[in-house]
Amino acid sequence: MLDGAETEDSLLEVNNIEVIYNHVILVLKGVSLKVPKGGITALLGGNGAGKTTTLKAVSNLLRSERGEVTKGSIKYRGERVQDLVPSELVKKGVIQVMEGRHCFEHLTVEENLLTGAYTRRASRGEIDADLNMVYDYFPRLKERRKSQAGYTSGGEQQMVAIGRALMSRPEMILLDEPSMGLAPQLVEEIFNIVKSLNENEGATFLLAEQNTNVALRFAHYGYILENGRVVMDGPAKELRENPDVKEFYLGMSDEGRKSFRDVRSYRRRKRWLS
Ligand SMILES: Nc1ncnc2c1ncn2[C@@H]1O[C@H](COP(=O)(O)OP(=O)(O)OP(=O)(O)O)[C@@H](O)[C@H]1O
Ligand SMILES: [Mg+2]
Repeated sequence: MLDGAETEDSLLEVNNIEVIYNHVILVLKGVSLKVPKGGITALLGGNGAGKTTTLKAVSNLLRSERGEVTKGSIKYRGERVQDLVPSELVKKGVIQVMEGRHCFEHLTVEENLLTGAYTRRASRGEIDADLNMVYDYFPRLKERRKSQAGYTSGGEQQMVAIGRALMSRPEMILLDEPSMGLAPQLVEEIFNIVKSLNENEGATFLLAEQNTNVALRFAHYGYILENGRVVMDGPAKELRENPDVKEFYLGMSDEGRKSFRDVRSYRRRKRWLS
């Protein structure tokens, strides 16, 4: 896995960014992260930690929310991208699947997918081939392709949102909270699809998740955000085994040793935060 010294394989580099909403609310206080090409990188943390803000900073979606990157830089393939409009970024291969799986409710599943191809100048044949690719990954969507998206289940709508992103032929997909509101079995199904898209299509993912457990099983590397700062990062396997991560994010603390762990964790936590 890449560390600070190796940058040549990073597709995305976020360097010490600060984000302010409404000119006064400081939300990100110097966030840095790297997303290597071909990897699955997880951005973890609880409610309000700054995960969505980080993704929106990357995909230039902050402006519509009166948010602004006031310090630091965001580079994609070594090129500064923070002044681009979202559609220019899509052309460069970066697309965001928003939190809450936005679909066009009145369009059918297939029409929703087709809207994902709008930034490309592709022939009907190419678009059909891509639709078939999406249906291969999401057989449920094929079955429901003529259904109005608003009447499909939450899991199917999440699949539509990811499928629509795939129709832009992205190199990197920013996925915000894919597990939100879904039953465990569906979460597993969606993460398995992410994994196969990563392995078979070479798609790079940066995904924001509160569900630390599932994210660290599928990601290669993770960053933990607290209160607008990265408090810890490392290979997913190491984070999974880290006692503080277990205690604070995986809910695996062992009752019998609780007080001992509390003290130790508290000390370490102080260290991350300092
Ligand atoms: N448009 C906005 N205007 C003002 N403050 C905002 C705005 N959007 C988010 N915030 C604040 O920024 C902080 C970070 O929010 P963000 O949505 O990035 O967190 P998150 O990690 O994605 O949380 P969640 O897991 O709940 O989705 C929160 O305190 C939130 O209240
Ligand atoms: Mg969020």
